[in-house]
Amino acid sequence: MNEYVPGLEGVPATKSNISSIDGDKGILSYRGYPIEMLAERSTFEETALLLLDGNLPTRATLKAFDQDMRANRRVKFRIRELMRQLPSTGHPMDMLQSMMACLGMDYSGSDCLTGGDHCDDLNFVHNTSVTIIAHMATMVAMWEHIRNGYDPIEPRADLTHAENFLWMLTGKEPDRYIARIMDICLILHAEHTINASTFAVLVAGSTLANPYSVIASGIATLSGPLHGGANQAVVNMLQEIGTPDKAAAYIDAQLLAKKKIWGFGHREYNVKDPRAVILEHLMRKFAEYKGNVGPLFEVAQAVEKAATERLGTKGIYPNVDFYSGVLYREMGIAPDQFPSLFAMSRVAGWLAHWKEQLGQNRIFRPTQVYTGEVDKEYVPLERRG
Ligand code: COA
Repeated sequence: MNEYVPGLEGVPATKSNISSIDGDKGILSYRGYPIEMLAERSTFEETALLLLDGNLPTRATLKAFDQDMRANRRVKFRIRELMRQLPSTGHPMDMLQSMMACLGMDYSGSDCLTGGDHCDDLNFVHNTSVTIIAHMATMVAMWEHIRNGYDPIEPRADLTHAENFLWMLTGKEPDRYIARIMDICLILHAEHTINASTFAVLVAGSTLANPYSVIASGIATLSGPLHGGANQAVVNMLQEIGTPDKAAAYIDAQLLAKKKIWGFGHREYNVKDPRAVILEHLMRKFAEYKGNVGPLFEVAQAVEKAATERLGTKGIYPNVDFYSGVLYREMGIAPDQFPSLFAMSRVAGWLAHWKEQLGQNRIFRPTQVYTGEVDKEYVPLERRG
């Protein structure tokens, strides 16, 4: 048991019944339901509840959850004022992480520091989850306006989660077809077993930290380009390549320089990520609907072909971030917002894991393999030269 495994590859960190991956067959399931089925038939609201509670909700339960979500879209004015004070050039993920921690200061009952009293209270866990999921989308959309010097757009209670997000982001009446594509994107990103950010959530949650701080830990961990920041990096890469004919040479140069191809590779999958398959399909549907194929999609297809030819034998294929960035860009969303979109969806999975952790809690306290020196003599400062 004392063997050190870099990156904890293959080391189970918890027992969980929330989601599962078969990395050889390319299967991802939430609570036993394959992701393709949920993408086709579910909504983000229903999927979030499935993740949180473990079962597909009844009509009444879903309706109540949906109503609670709609009622929780507005953030307090103090939070809005704080957002206005943030540097407008800051990355949206830094805004989101900071504001999530601030929410914890402003929402009553969130203080688990007094011995984690609330953490046993399933109503508290549920209500907090609703507030966090609803507020995350609001804050991502609000930031787009605030950072550009405008007032944020008020949320609407007559729209679904995805529709309201697009409304708040763009100020335009949401197109139902595009909102459904956004809804599916949110479903696809909502959960993915014990990855880096979910592990961060488990560790923070295991200390009985307040849930807003727990989710802030997840946001911080997701922000890196090796994790949820990759979708932004993918679009930067595709824009740098410029045209499909330059893809193969670019991939060769990157691999020669021992650099990563963004949006490729996954610790768990040896085949194309099933979410990338669906997102590529959605990208085609979006292009059909719009009546034109965006230039980034064509470059992405050329990159997939070139990279797969060179890396496929190592089991390195497109992951979720490869086509999500392209799709969001074609929707007109700013690239540095892509990781925030990932976060506002993944928060459902994080909260499900937080809840699960609280039900079987033991504080995380792993060990280490010490590689430093021992029994050294303290040399007084004047003798150190
Ligand atoms: N491009 C080129 N080579 C890659 C690669 C990529 N995207 N991903 C993995 N590899 C190669 C590594 O260079 C390494 O090769 P080597 O054995 O010859 O040294 C091997 O595959 C293993 O890579 P490693 O980084 O150790 O795998 P990991 O399981 O620790 O990391 C990722 C998984 C996702 C972090 C990694 O694939 C990556 O950095 N991908 C790009 C970032 C990305 O898209 N992240 C989003 C994940 S959803």
